[in-house]
Amino acid sequence: MAVGREHFGGRTAAILALAGSAIGLGNIWRFPYMVGQTGGAAFIIIYLAACLFLSLPIFLAEAIIGHRTHSGTFGAMEQLAPGTKWKWLGLLTVVSPLILLSYYSVVGGWSLGYLWQSVTSGFHASEIGTVTSAYGTFISEPWRPLLCHTLFLFGCAVIVSAGVKSGIEKFNKVTMPLLFVLIVLIMVYSLSLPGASAGVDYLVRPDFSKITPSGVAAAMGQSFFSLSLGVGTILTYASYIRKEENILATGLGTIGFDLMFALIAGFAIMPAVFAAGIEPGAGPGLIFETLPFIFAKMGVGAPVLSAVVAVIFFVTIVFAAFTSAISMYEVGVAYLVEQRGMSRHKATVLIFVGTWTLGALCSLSFGPLAETKIFGLSIFSFCDMLISNFLMTFGGLLFVLFVGWKMDKTAVRDEFTCGGTVRFNCIVFDAFWFLLRYIAPVAIVIIFFTNFFA
Ligand code: PHE
Repeated sequence: MAVGREHFGGRTAAILALAGSAIGLGNIWRFPYMVGQTGGAAFIIIYLAACLFLSLPIFLAEAIIGHRTHSGTFGAMEQLAPGTKWKWLGLLTVVSPLILLSYYSVVGGWSLGYLWQSVTSGFHASEIGTVTSAYGTFISEPWRPLLCHTLFLFGCAVIVSAGVKSGIEKFNKVTMPLLFVLIVLIMVYSLSLPGASAGVDYLVRPDFSKITPSGVAAAMGQSFFSLSLGVGTILTYASYIRKEENILATGLGTIGFDLMFALIAGFAIMPAVFAAGIEPGAGPGLIFETLPFIFAKMGVGAPVLSAVVAVIFFVTIVFAAFTSAISMYEVGVAYLVEQRGMSRHKATVLIFVGTWTLGALCSLSFGPLAETKIFGLSIFSFCDMLISNFLMTFGGLLFVLFVGWKMDKTAVRDEFTCGGTVRFNCIVFDAFWFLLRYIAPVAIVIIFFTNFFA
């Protein structure tokens, strides 16, 4: 363990940072749609079960490695399994979050661009016909998206280079409560719109017939991505949690916030979508086509209110993306600082250069580089496919196998129960151990194949 390594101030700070990583674009652009499409309230119950019985054990496995070693991904593997092939898992989980960061920053940049537009010119009723196609035009341009990507990544770099306590912790402590306040404000507005009840209905009407094996696999996959599993971010953040802290409580707190935010985001978005009389969708289209259309349409009756809501919405999206992106950034910085002896500043710059370059290629792959294909996919789609469909689940599987089958059980129990001092944790340890060793690996393989054939 490195001497003088930084730590989060306490449990609240740790949960806010972890929730910052978890709450991101996934909560806003995918969860609400999945709920509506996959059985409403019935899906929410399945999702909750997936979080508790699958994602929580995986989350804890990653957290236990980080917390035990107080080291980044590579160093952790070197400490717990020195001189073995497990170091490749350490390296894999340095590389995956950086690839993820490269293209996440492109989308974060688009959000920044839309925030800029909502502050400066807004979305007007006169543009209702073109506001949707404006998205395609914007992302295929070379310069503006590139500038937005640069600014977004630079913002992350500034926060990360300021350090774990004065940068990441401080930023999350301010941003996370703000995110909740903003999304609740939007929800109140959205629910007050005429016709909003159809959106509420879409989200809550339970339809158990939609709960098919593929629906369950989808719930598991979404909870996996939403909790930022498999790419070393949880491990790295957990390595900054103080020794005496209760990891289970931290994990439950993170899951609770992530789920709460996803649900509120659903009630903030879907009622407005239905009130505007359009079909709900998912993915970037929901944020960059559907929402601007709604703002333009709402602007007919209440231009000022709609403009204010648009700004609040894009601020929320930008900050949610920021708090996730800095967690990916930190994984690489921790590696360079701890394993390569670099200063934090230099490490931040180096990662900026690398991820900016890959991100720039991803950004240009919507325009000038559209014809450049890797396995038939654009550069952006290839990176996304590589991470979301392969490396995340692969990393998650290896983490689970490592803690469940390779690590010393006494050490795992010691971490899980805070050295045997927390009674509740002692009671549930056996359940955790069973889920980790037998259920989680099988479930991850199912997620993998579902993603693969989706
Ligand atoms: N959980 C984040 C989201 O919902 C994405 C993420 C994945 C962040 C992996 C960090 C690591 O958008």
